[in-house]
Amino acid sequence: MVGGVEEHLTVGRVAELAGVSVRTLHHYDEIGLVRPSARTPAGYRAYAADDVERLREVLAYKRLGFGLREIADLVDDPATDAVVRLHRLRGLLLEQRDRAAATVTAIDRELEARAMGIRTTPEEQLKMFGAQLYESIGSAYPATRRTEPRIAARVWDALGDARTVLNVGAGTGSYEPADREVVAVEPSAVMRAQRPVGAAPCVAAAAERLPFEDGAFDAAMAFSTVHHWQDPIAGLREMRRVARRVVVFTHDASDAGWRHRFWLTRDYLPEVSGLVAGRPSVDQLARAIGARLEPVLIPWDCADGFFEAYWRRPEAYLEDHVRRAVSVWTRVGPEAERRAVDALRDDLASGRWAGRNGDLVDLDAAELGLRLLVA
Ligand SMILES: C[S@@+](CC[C@H](N)C(=O)[O-])C[C@H]1O[C@@H](n2cnc3c(N)ncnc32)[C@H](O)[C@@H]1O
Repeated sequence: MVGGVEEHLTVGRVAELAGVSVRTLHHYDEIGLVRPSARTPAGYRAYAADDVERLREVLAYKRLGFGLREIADLVDDPATDAVVRLHRLRGLLLEQRDRAAATVTAIDRELEARAMGIRTTPEEQLKMFGAQLYESIGSAYPATRRTEPRIAARVWDALGDARTVLNVGAGTGSYEPADREVVAVEPSAVMRAQRPVGAAPCVAAAAERLPFEDGAFDAAMAFSTVHHWQDPIAGLREMRRVARRVVVFTHDASDAGWRHRFWLTRDYLPEVSGLVAGRPSVDQLARAIGARLEPVLIPWDCADGFFEAYWRRPEAYLEDHVRRAVSVWTRVGPEAERRAVDALRDDLASGRWAGRNGDLVDLDAAELGLRLLVA
């Protein structure tokens, strides 16, 4: 090649490198999805570095199962730069990998059952591969439960110089620091099965009886899990026993004002107060292990879809897949859920929600009772 197209790749070379046909590349050009910015002197299409970057993104979304029209919207999104787009792509690919891992586990279970002469029922088979599996691991786009980097930074800071870390109630492994030696504890087989390939080793146990020696770890962490434990105080004492430092992320549900802090519980879902009745207060939890309490503000665009995460994005709560990733909605029961969602939908449509919550629009982060306990 000569002159201005020296830095370019011919269509044939691009097709060869990317493993797609020249015809596909011509089609992408014709529909305006990936337009090579130049021609060689012989008239062939020639791709510049930026064209290749765009093509790579298009092919990755294609592999994830998106249609060409959706892909065009994603790669043309003017609100995101290349790094943000790469992070988004990475998140989606990890989700897909996790889903494949969960499906492999489901197949292994069925193979084991068949080896023992047990046939799975049609219902069980659908559970393994159908909607329920999909729901139990969250929808692929956008992923609802994942590490929120700004909150993760607070947790990892609080871990200090700990080299070995026990993650209790670890779930699928969010917030596990990649630069330390982590061991996870998770009682639920369903959750363990969804841990991504390459995640920290995971022991089947509960917080209240940790199967480790005294002082076995530099630090023990627990993220969004203490409220699920049968005996939170006993669990925290166990963490204290096996580690010299303890870091817990939880919420302050004891405060009489807690229910009123967040518009969702205050105006739509008062039933949550019944869920926390009789549970130890966050102060009692802190006292049990001599911890200090630090407030954690929730960024308006929080990446982890926990209950309070969408405080400035109320429409999100109308989405079934958003609610299904949060246990509160299941625990209040379908009737309360339906009533709350219908009322919120109406208020969003009528402008009533905006009228009541106009002050939130200017906030970048909100204090909704989330706390870090550090001991
Ligand atoms: C909301 S998930 C949080 C998972 C993970 N820490 C995260 O942030 O994604 C709560 C987890 O606590 C686990 N859990 C429930 N009871 C527990 C107990 N007694 N001891 C330890 N973990 C428990 C559940 O199985 C579930 O995986």
